[in-house]
Amino acid sequence: MKLKGLKSQICLLLLLLLVLLLNFSLVFFTPSNEEQHRMIHRIHSDSPFPPSSSTRGNQHLKEILSTAANNDSLVHTRITSLERIEGGLARARASILEAIRSSNHTKPKGSIYLNPRAFHQSQNEMKKRFKVWVYKEGEQPLVHDGPVNNKYAIEGQFIDEIENKKSHFIANNPEHAHVFLIPLSISKVIRYVYKPRRSRYDYDPERLQRLIEDYISVVATKYPFWNRSTGADHFLISCHDWGPRISYANPQLFKNFMRVLCNANTSEGFLPNRDVSIPEVYLPVGKLGPPNTAQQPAKRTILAFFAGGAHGFIRKRLLKRWKNKDKEVQVHEYLEKGQDYTKLMGLSKFCLCPSGYEVASPRVVEAIYAGCVPVIICDNYSLPFSDVLNWNKFSMQIEVGRIPEIKTILQNVTQDKYMELYFSVRRVRKHFVINRPARPFDLIHMILHSIWLRRLNFRLVTS
Ligand SMILES: *[C@@H]1O[C@H](CO)[C@@H](O)[C@H](O)[C@H]1NC(C)=O
Ligand SMILES: *[C@@H]1O[C@H](CO)[C@@H](O)[C@H](O)[C@H]1NC(C)=O
Ligand SMILES: *[C@@H]1O[C@H](CO)[C@@H](O)[C@H](O)[C@H]1NC(C)=O
Ligand SMILES: *[C@@H]1O[C@H](CO)[C@@H](O)[C@H](O)[C@H]1NC(C)=O
Ligand SMILES: *[C@@H]1O[C@H](CO)[C@@H](O)[C@H](O)[C@H]1NC(C)=O
Ligand SMILES: *[C@@H]1O[C@H](CO)[C@@H](O)[C@H](O)[C@H]1NC(C)=O
Repeated sequence: MKLKGLKSQICLLLLLLLVLLLNFSLVFFTPSNEEQHRMIHRIHSDSPFPPSSSTRGNQHLKEILSTAANNDSLVHTRITSLERIEGGLARARASILEAIRSSNHTKPKGSIYLNPRAFHQSQNEMKKRFKVWVYKEGEQPLVHDGPVNNKYAIEGQFIDEIENKKSHFIANNPEHAHVFLIPLSISKVIRYVYKPRRSRYDYDPERLQRLIEDYISVVATKYPFWNRSTGADHFLISCHDWGPRISYANPQLFKNFMRVLCNANTSEGFLPNRDVSIPEVYLPVGKLGPPNTAQQPAKRTILAFFAGGAHGFIRKRLLKRWKNKDKEVQVHEYLEKGQDYTKLMGLSKFCLCPSGYEVASPRVVEAIYAGCVPVIICDNYSLPFSDVLNWNKFSMQIEVGRIPEIKTILQNVTQDKYMELYFSVRRVRKHFVINRPARPFDLIHMILHSIWLRRLNFRLVTS
């Protein structure tokens, strides 16, 4: 009788773990606006994170532990491993906050980082501690797979890297994991499940939504991890346009879930402090990037360059105003035979990166690879890694309404300013490069770091 009571108490305890938001985000994140920040805060918790680490929850936890100590060693390890994880995260936060404090008056000018010391400290802490568990359930091709080429390549490259037994970040045991990957690939679902495609009714997003919910329900029933955080330490990576749709049918289920997306459109429900924005990278078959075509600044004879289809209203406006109209602002819908897209980028000072059907465009990364300053023309796009990178140092942003002024705006950039931008583009390049296996500070590590930051931003405690 007594034991039964204890067991149900422990079960209840596991179910009642709460997610609390730490004020950490206020120092480290730079949310695009206050509104969004408040929203995140509300989502995670109504009460602010208690300042000291000996929370009421932990007190309660200790009591339970001492009663359970002589029995049920399984529950015992589970609870202590969570404590261990949270203890490690607390130390990581403290060391990053210390880096922020010690750097407040020595911020180097012109840095591509919002806070270089905090960034480096956070990367170190991540390398030291961060562990990802990949659920083993499910079979290829929908799960444990993803495209490794073309414009959604990052989806497959990331899944492959993290499922690779050699990854430094893989947890050997879910009890040691800080975050949990749902290894489902939206691109593969669209490719294999959406067949045949005869009419638009064959594209019903419900199929996709049901698949993901089924997967979550399987792992949430089998393991305690989803329920204990209501999904807050779980994530899925998708570069496919449909990424955001996974959560539309059941917003409650995905309330805390981290969606790692290329299509980071804040008008479509992307939440910068919960979700992660990742760049779209076009990978040719069998390659990890385009050929290097970057020329020295003196050889860059084209002021601004764009080539691409009239997808979406922003590009339509751009093409309408600039297509084949100016020698210095070269805007093409299609390149003529013999013209080389990456070579032309390497010969340009500025590369125009307007949103297409979706906010993200592989042009941003292509421009950075080619040493061409990206000129981002978009609405409601949450730029990748903008919680650590200072995009103003290595890109320009032109509002959609100012498309007619592109030439005057770019001509107005002084040579000194241009050279600053150019060298910053070269410095930021390493963060957008894909290596397999991944290397410190490269694109895959930057994605992991974005997830790590969001995990640092809350704490799992008992209630
Ligand atoms: C521990 O639990 C087992 C069953 O799970 C039970 O047989 C045993 O009596 C318990 N021991 C104590 C000290 O409560
Ligand atoms: C900045 O640093 C100075 C001196 O180290 C310190 O007195 C001050 O409180 C710091 N400010 C913040 C916001 O951390
Ligand atoms: C998690 O919660 C769901 C829904 O309440 C429940 O069906 C499931 O059994 C729970 N999982 C565990 C491991 O207790
Ligand atoms: C989206 O962009 C438009 C145009 O800049 C702006 O008016 C609107 O407030 C933005 N919406 C969100 C959710 O940021
Ligand atoms: C962003 O989302 C809004 C709302 O769904 C949509 O109207 C807009 O076209 C999207 N932006 C792009 C570039 O796709
Ligand atoms: C040109 O640059 C100056 C300062 O650098 C700025 O004040 C002015 O608004 C700019 N003009 C245009 C058209 O962007």
